[in-house]
Amino acid sequence: MRVVRAAVGVTGCVIALTAGAQSVRFDAGCSPQTPLFSSPYCAELVAVPDLPGARGVMQLTPVVSPFGIAVDSAGRQRQRLTLVIEGLPGPASLGPYTTYVAWAYSLSMDQEHRLGVVHAGRVQLGEMPASLVQFRVLVSAERDGRVASRGRGGKLVMRATSPSALLLAHRDVMTPFMAGGSGTMEHGEHSAHWPKPAPDPRITPTPGMAGMAPAVAPLLPSAPPTSSAKPREIVRLSSGDTLSLAASIVAKNVAGKRFLMYGYNGQIPGPLISVTKNAQIVVRFINGIDQPSTIHWHGVRLENRFDGTAHVTQEPVAPGDSFTYRVRFPDAGVYWYHPHVREDIQQDLGLYGNILVRAVHPNVHREEVLALDDLTLDSTGAQLPYGSDAPTHALMGRFGSLLLVNGEPSYALGVRRGEVVRFYLTNVANARLLNLTFHGAQVKLIGSDMGNFERESWTTHVTIAPAERYIVDARFSTPGRHAIVNHVQWLDHARGIYRDVADTLGFVQVSDAPAPTLSGARYDELRRDQNVSREMATLRRYVARPPDRTLTLGLKLKDVPPSMLAMLAGMSVPVDWNDGMPQMHWALTGREVTWTISDERGRENMAIDWRFKRGRVLKLRIKNRFDVAHAMAHPMHLHGQRFVVLARNGIPNETLGWKDTAVLPAGETMDLLVELTNPGRWMLHCHIAEHLGTGMMTVFAVDP
Ligand code: C2O
Ligand code: CU
Repeated sequence: MRVVRAAVGVTGCVIALTAGAQSVRFDAGCSPQTPLFSSPYCAELVAVPDLPGARGVMQLTPVVSPFGIAVDSAGRQRQRLTLVIEGLPGPASLGPYTTYVAWAYSLSMDQEHRLGVVHAGRVQLGEMPASLVQFRVLVSAERDGRVASRGRGGKLVMRATSPSALLLAHRDVMTPFMAGGSGTMEHGEHSAHWPKPAPDPRITPTPGMAGMAPAVAPLLPSAPPTSSAKPREIVRLSSGDTLSLAASIVAKNVAGKRFLMYGYNGQIPGPLISVTKNAQIVVRFINGIDQPSTIHWHGVRLENRFDGTAHVTQEPVAPGDSFTYRVRFPDAGVYWYHPHVREDIQQDLGLYGNILVRAVHPNVHREEVLALDDLTLDSTGAQLPYGSDAPTHALMGRFGSLLLVNGEPSYALGVRRGEVVRFYLTNVANARLLNLTFHGAQVKLIGSDMGNFERESWTTHVTIAPAERYIVDARFSTPGRHAIVNHVQWLDHARGIYRDVADTLGFVQVSDAPAPTLSGARYDELRRDQNVSREMATLRRYVARPPDRTLTLGLKLKDVPPSMLAMLAGMSVPVDWNDGMPQMHWALTGREVTWTISDERGRENMAIDWRFKRGRVLKLRIKNRFDVAHAMAHPMHLHGQRFVVLARNGIPNETLGWKDTAVLPAGETMDLLVELTNPGRWMLHCHIAEHLGTGMMTVFAVDP
């Protein structure tokens, strides 16, 4: 009961209904009255007309994944199915039947799966076949409950359609607006100056969007470059060392065009800083770009005044000025640094770098630190400009058309047969989530943002949201060339369908020469990290406690033309892997879109003024509303502290470890346990750069 209720992100009351012989408890978040499009996990089960007393719901519960997003290696949702039915008479009363059986079908009815025997009341039917991305469920009365698949032959009694199949095709939605359709953004004063975003041949262009342009002026780096971009260098630092990091405008060739970008010390990504745990270094930042900037040390529990948060911990550093940071690294793991001013521009143009903080050397042949990114091109293959005084792409964030690994469109690695490679992955993209498969490798999930999970696990894929990090070991046993691929489900909004999309990020070439055997534990063994285990053991008791505080994620729109609003209706999915309407989403700016975080008292964003005592452990629940004009998954990041994701949708998380960023799919709920150990004023925000840039942030204080 508890599990199913929480699965739709609602912990409110339960409605008891009585009809006929059976009385069933429907859940307030998923009952036959639940409005359409209000949850990605709830749909009405409709009875055939000659069974007027019967009704019910189909509830889907995302499986718990270490990545917080329940998908398989193809990016298809993994969810368990529960049917709640009331008022269904005994099957024998309908004819020569003994049993009710539930079946799942693809929308075209060319796939049929027998789900199991059902009856009035609550029946759990296990995990749905992932191949059914959009599906229908039928319940039939059968002579024999053991009927095999392909065997539905009895009377049809009830049916439901998956929420994923309720996406409206735009060709339908647009029709009434095609004739008159003018809106404030269509002939903006700046539209003549904007190049168009590159169309993607894999999605159908949305009709009626041709005249759209953002209502802000286009912006790209103005000054001439000081150098051409160099690849990242590794900088090993010891406690007390000083590093100069100068941000400057650089020229970089990307896919045959010359781009003006930003680099730290002329490098994209910026220098990889390698330190040992508990080191403290000094970083002298020199701002040589044409915008004010700062450096934020993402995930590092440092002294508050060096956090680099513009207008919260420091004033932005003006072009030509400098600022000195003192950075201490109390936790092993992989971190990153980036500006905390107009991330949608500065980070996207190349201002990001990694920090590897070590406690012990891992037992692997090789380590690779990969920053995963994307870049948005215009229709000529040149750079698509940014919004001058407000971000463009404010609704979905700027999904790039070109995937990058460490700043390059193609990644290549050569290894020997049997080599174990430790990959430290960071998603530095503005908005795009990735679902990576290392083909040809046996992959072990080791850790995330702030060090190891309490135990290792095997995985077929790595799902990573903006600003998150995952650490995986991959053993390449088979000689040959193996691809690293982003396998996801793209939405084609114009058609109202999903599509398998695979984007290759690079290749690992495995030679015939064998790698030397590693000493220590065998690769096949899954190890436990005793220290993390001990820490997590003390936190588990919080799972059952009610949350101390609750935040709700939402969205506000203003001055959006009715034709656009119409297209947003019913378009939300738990996770967007692509921008299915690039023309329209590009044109929406921070002027029209405000993303919100609100507390229990209804205060929003920077108006929330939470204060906590240092040393306290805070159980924070975050709910992500689905019933807004365009719900999205939000990677939520907390500065200066660490947390664990205790539970999702009321179900305990089995893969515990310290994190600073956790993604929350639309329509879901997560419970974080935050250790408030570091005094100061810290930000909590969504890490989609355009959501942060349109208000989705707050500040909380930890008193000394
Ligand atoms: Cu990675 Cu507030 O930032
Ligand atoms: Cu967001």
